[in-house]
Amino acid sequence: METIFSGIQPSGTPTIGNYIGAMKQFIDLQNHYSCYFCIVDEHAITVPQDPLKLRQQTRSLAALYLAVGLDPEKATIFIQSEVSAHAEAAWIIQCNTTIGELERMTQFKDKSQKNGRTGVSAGLLTYPPLMVGDIVLYNANLVPVGDDQKQHLELTRDFVERFNKRYGQANQEVLVLPEVKIAEQGGRVMSLQDPTKKMSKSDTNSKGFISMLDEPAIIRKKIKSAVTDSTGIIEYDPVNKPGISNLLSIFSASTGRPVEELVADYTGKGYGEFKTDLAEAVVALLAPIQERYHELLASDELDDILDKGADQARLVANKTLQRMKNAIGLGRKPRKR
Ligand code: TYM
Repeated sequence: METIFSGIQPSGTPTIGNYIGAMKQFIDLQNHYSCYFCIVDEHAITVPQDPLKLRQQTRSLAALYLAVGLDPEKATIFIQSEVSAHAEAAWIIQCNTTIGELERMTQFKDKSQKNGRTGVSAGLLTYPPLMVGDIVLYNANLVPVGDDQKQHLELTRDFVERFNKRYGQANQEVLVLPEVKIAEQGGRVMSLQDPTKKMSKSDTNSKGFISMLDEPAIIRKKIKSAVTDSTGIIEYDPVNKPGISNLLSIFSASTGRPVEELVADYTGKGYGEFKTDLAEAVVALLAPIQERYHELLASDELDDILDKGADQARLVANKTLQRMKNAIGLGRKPRKR
């Protein structure tokens, strides 16, 4: 069976962008692959976090993973910082990655331009190697992510090829080369307030995103105030009509109905009616998830699942880490016992 790894940062409550671009894919994939789904809290500290909030958000994200339908019998669900191999692997990977490669990452360029190079942590630059480590430690063949992570996956593939060439023995590769998997519909959900920008859980304007835990009244309000255009015609044209196209794509991902079918249904109808129906579709999608989430958050079951997940993850991750150390000559040769 092939292996899947993916992760989400607990840097805020996930948005419907995270759900549509990432989580939704996980649910089906867990039936066909050996899966590892991680709460990547070490990634979240590349920017300042409030300690209490970070802990809450970490456990909350774990509850959401389960609430959307991830099954701990089928997938390993765990917290990154509870498996120390991630931080160790990241160091080895950093030492085999150039500063030039990291400075080319658009996420780093965007954030360091906004805050100035002296105003961002060194971790923001060296964060992609931590992500590379996440993926290679589990020998992942496939990584389901949203479109914005494509560049990091390319970096991962470049790293694996270089590492295997440098340190692999004849025909014996040290690390598995992963492929990226982007959702066909909704790989890039855009902000409701600026549909040329990605929807983000760290947006300072909360009207730009729908959080997975937003209450129905808030969801209705946010969709009502979503930016569209003045033509009043419902059609899918992301270049010229990014607002309504984004809403169509959210509608489609929330209901499973193809965009073309929705466009046909709403021909001659106004944006008002469309938005009302879309809001009800999103409310209906999130209501059962939220109900299950609140049950899980209050239970011990969640912590049992995370304990077991970390144990399972450690076994695999430590083996790969040892293989990496052996390949590059760190420590002594393992003794035969
Ligand atoms: P993060 O936490 O920003 O996002 C988690 C997942 O959600 C996807 N996503 C979106 N998809 C569609 N539309 C959007 N507006 C949108 N916003 C976010 C992201 O692409 C991602 O799949 N570095 C990663 C986390 C990570 C990871 C990994 C992922 C760490 N290690 C290893 C895969 C494999 C991140 O910051 O995702």
